[in-house]
Amino acid sequence: MTDPLILFMPSGKRGRFPEGTTVLEAARQLGVYVESVCGGRGICGRCQVEVQEGQFAKHGITSANDHLSPFGPKERRYAEKRDLKPGRRLSCSATITGDLVIDIPLDVQINAQIIRKAADTRVFERKPAVQLCYVEVEEPDMHKPLGDLDRIKAALETDWGFTDILVDPHIFPIVQSTLRKGGWAVTAAIHKDEDTGQASMIALWPGLHNEAWGIACDIGSTTIALHLVSLLSGHVIASAGTSNPQIRFGEDLMSRVSYVMMNPDGREAMTDAVRKAVDDLIGKVCEESGANRNDILDTVFVGNPIMHHLFLGIDPTELGGAPFALAVSGAIHTRARELALDANQGCRVYVIPCIAGHVGADAAAATLAEGPHRQDEMMLLVDVGTNAEIVLGNSKRVVAASSPTGPAFEGAEISCGQRAAPGAIERVRIDPETLEPRFKVIGSDLWSNEDGFADSVKTGITGICGSGIIEVVAEMYLAGIISEDGVVDGAMAAKSPRIIENGRTFSYVLNDGDPLITVTQNDVRAIQLAKAALYAGIKLLMDKQGIDHVDQIRFAGAFGSFIDPKYAMVLGLIPDCDLSKVSAVGNAAGTGARMALVNRDYRREIEETVRRIEKIETALEPKFQDHFVAAMALPNKTDPFPELAKAVKLPPKKALASGGEAGGAGRRRREGGRRARG
Ligand code: FES
Repeated sequence: MTDPLILFMPSGKRGRFPEGTTVLEAARQLGVYVESVCGGRGICGRCQVEVQEGQFAKHGITSANDHLSPFGPKERRYAEKRDLKPGRRLSCSATITGDLVIDIPLDVQINAQIIRKAADTRVFERKPAVQLCYVEVEEPDMHKPLGDLDRIKAALETDWGFTDILVDPHIFPIVQSTLRKGGWAVTAAIHKDEDTGQASMIALWPGLHNEAWGIACDIGSTTIALHLVSLLSGHVIASAGTSNPQIRFGEDLMSRVSYVMMNPDGREAMTDAVRKAVDDLIGKVCEESGANRNDILDTVFVGNPIMHHLFLGIDPTELGGAPFALAVSGAIHTRARELALDANQGCRVYVIPCIAGHVGADAAAATLAEGPHRQDEMMLLVDVGTNAEIVLGNSKRVVAASSPTGPAFEGAEISCGQRAAPGAIERVRIDPETLEPRFKVIGSDLWSNEDGFADSVKTGITGICGSGIIEVVAEMYLAGIISEDGVVDGAMAAKSPRIIENGRTFSYVLNDGDPLITVTQNDVRAIQLAKAALYAGIKLLMDKQGIDHVDQIRFAGAFGSFIDPKYAMVLGLIPDCDLSKVSAVGNAAGTGARMALVNRDYRREIEETVRRIEKIETALEPKFQDHFVAAMALPNKTDPFPELAKAVKLPPKKALASGGEAGGAGRRRREGGRRARG
């Protein structure tokens, strides 16, 4: 007779096991991660599973609750003391008696922590680098003079299979008191190095300890986003964000590098500022969730190269100019206390590798989250900031670059531009017949031509943010106000009073009330320069891949969450693509950090992927200039946009004499060379 067949969900891993095998053991043998703190003693409750009953024809399995041994004494005892939901079993106790489909519930939360709704609710298979291991240790015996710590190590070897465990020195002084306080039982936190497999004891508690937290953090130039994650369940328990306090040293990356170069204590001041901000956020998420800082055992950080260096205390001066040399590009393993973070004394830090001197660990983490390298379709992943980080690839080959887009997409360099904040115009529509606009501002759900709009805007209209700029320029083009070369058509002044003369060029009046908000020829030009830089970078990567179209586009980062892909494509910010395959993925870098936190296999995956990614230096590529010039046009001088044409009626071409365009691309190129990358 063949052994029963067990299928684990959601991983889909399956295998046959002799009757009498515990479900926990079967999971272990198949490499399915089931948490177990107490080592199968039936006291931690972390190993809960559920049977999915029914016929699973595809797998040839008929699964039923009675294909597990009846409720045993350990489960009864646990259910009496704690709360074991109906249908739940302890996998360390329940043994296999027949074919089964076993579900590992994702909500195994013992201490009733409130699960906050995270921005991204994806749950990843767990295989954390830090694991809690409960052991019962022999009492000391005069005839067997083995030290207390050595007996703990012996128990960890017998019960958990860890050999040659290294012990963090801060544990030595607490071994004896902890062991006695726990009545000869302790819980050790064991960190397993993903490369060497070396196990280290990093923390120790008396008796059974059932809390282990991790931190996943994305350090952006503008904002820092941090998640508190349960290492035992994989859930995000609390999230918090703050603006990067380094802004006071310089708004953009290059000015922060300059600050370091000009001020002897500049690097230290910025390192202290960012570490303090991260530590404050840790305090905030702990307070919100009731978690204890001392139970934070592992952390993962990502950031662009300059943030990465400053956080680690490395001078970023070399990243300020070619060849953009990183002090360290590979993954970093260190300890929280080395970075002045208040967590458990043994808490580990893992920093995801950087891809290149201007494509950082944030882009690597976004790559891990979106997985171009895991699929056949060609995916373009773009994170737009003052530098756009671009990754293009599939399972065969991945290439990456950055493009100096400048701050125009963030509302800077635009006459009425501002950061995205209440009062900023974020959506725009222009009637192609009358050229009359309507718009929406942040903080109100109404369009400007709807009743009650003025009252709904508490702050008043204050300016145009990045997504508003993209929409207004795209709509101006669709309405024929600007030509494909981006020239505001003065002849349209005869058709609408919204086209006004402005020196030698013309502007479009978006808001004719107070304040007057216009889009000038220079504004259009700034957007053209920014989008041409991005598109030229993307085209270089497409050339490297030998492709003329991409299958999918993902916008990462805050900017990507707010722009409408259709308008981004009308402008020619991104190449032609089926619009249903263009999406915003939010803080993909933060998601990647969480993945690396809860599953150490992802650390290996991203390290291998980063080694494989080919880095393209846009400044050195002779074709950059040609692509840039073609990309100055809307949507593009040379590239067709057939998918876009299916969704949007593009205007007929009209050539207008350019006002002050000459030298635009060349000027941009020089500016790009000066600009900070990263
Ligand atoms: Fe602790 Fe099953 S492993 S209760």
